[in-house]
Amino acid sequence: MTKTQLTEGVYWVGVVDWNLRDFHGYTTPRGGTYNAYLIVDEKIALVDTVKHAFAGEMLERIKEIIDPSNIDYVVSNHVEIDHSGSLHEIMKIATNAQIISTEKGKEGLLKYHGGNWNFRTVKTGDELKLGRKTLFFITVPMLHWPDSMSTYIKEDRLLLSNDLFGQHLASSFRFDEDACSLLDECDVLMDEAAKYYANIFMPFGGLILKKLEEIQKLGIEMKMIAPSHGVMWKTPGKIIEAYQKWGKGVSKPKVLIIYDTMWNSTEVMATEVLRGIADSGIEAPLFHLRKNETSEIVKEVLEARAILLGTPTLNNDMFPTVSGFLTYLLGLKPKNKLWATFGSYGWAGGGVRGVNEKLKSSGYEIVDSLEVRFRPDETDLAKCYALGQKMASLVKSSATA
Ligand code: FEO
Repeated sequence: MTKTQLTEGVYWVGVVDWNLRDFHGYTTPRGGTYNAYLIVDEKIALVDTVKHAFAGEMLERIKEIIDPSNIDYVVSNHVEIDHSGSLHEIMKIATNAQIISTEKGKEGLLKYHGGNWNFRTVKTGDELKLGRKTLFFITVPMLHWPDSMSTYIKEDRLLLSNDLFGQHLASSFRFDEDACSLLDECDVLMDEAAKYYANIFMPFGGLILKKLEEIQKLGIEMKMIAPSHGVMWKTPGKIIEAYQKWGKGVSKPKVLIIYDTMWNSTEVMATEVLRGIADSGIEAPLFHLRKNETSEIVKEVLEARAILLGTPTLNNDMFPTVSGFLTYLLGLKPKNKLWATFGSYGWAGGGVRGVNEKLKSSGYEIVDSLEVRFRPDETDLAKCYALGQKMASLVKSSATA
């Protein structure tokens, strides 16, 4: 097995999960990785583990470098079991190892795994000297769980960031600069980083901006960032800049049309709204909710200035796919968006009203709303076109990127 070294004495001992296609509901057509890191100094530390099914592969990588029974510390940056799932396997071998985590991490690890382990809990600013190298801990609560933490190797200026800055991407490349030596791979890398941010970190943009500021005030210079998913950033400027932009909710002049349809009336409306937007020279991708994956649509939401939601009416309410999508999307708290709604009904209506009520109850304002009975006629279609033009005009004057 080829060893992957980040800096002297620091190794990647994670695994690539080429067959991962679903990560607790988030679709991962390009697979994923679980990154663990081994720091070999006078003392030996393992930072995070991998999903339980891959414990053997991780242990084989560790054995290529050291005897795992010699591990002194297991740093658990995050409880979620894609990172702590092999803790039992490690602790069975490294019987004298101490687990380093936040207080909330300890609580979660014990609840999940129930081990009788020796813990040391840490908070921002605490350090652990391994010999020549010093681990400096930075708690990152709600980025994205209450227990989350990053570990910084001071002498190497290397941040083991855990979920922050990750991507669900299985690749034969371990480092960004290798991926970016091929143009397509580089585009894929940033695309997956955006999808990951949108589906996991979007609700926490404000916290991310504050944490980046705090990290700067702590005098931490990130020469390299090694997240717990995807490739490692040897040139981290690009991903830090992207996180700053996404955290601020910077938007492009782009309108997303997201809809479902029963007997094509809502679809006819959607395409006419699209024509109105496109004729104004604004980008407007169209997403049928049963023909596109939710996590992919959410990636597009990240930088779009406006969202148009279309629904037919079923049993006096919005269509179930629209309801499910809205529940997921509103949980991610997208910010700085212009919202409009449209849809159709046959008897008493209620689809568009349902969407509007759900948006309003989440604190969003609706720029415009349009509902037609049965099939849209010429007058209705003219209103759809006008809605498209209105949204295009608003987006032109207010996009921030
Ligand atoms: Fe990669 Fe929050 O687990």
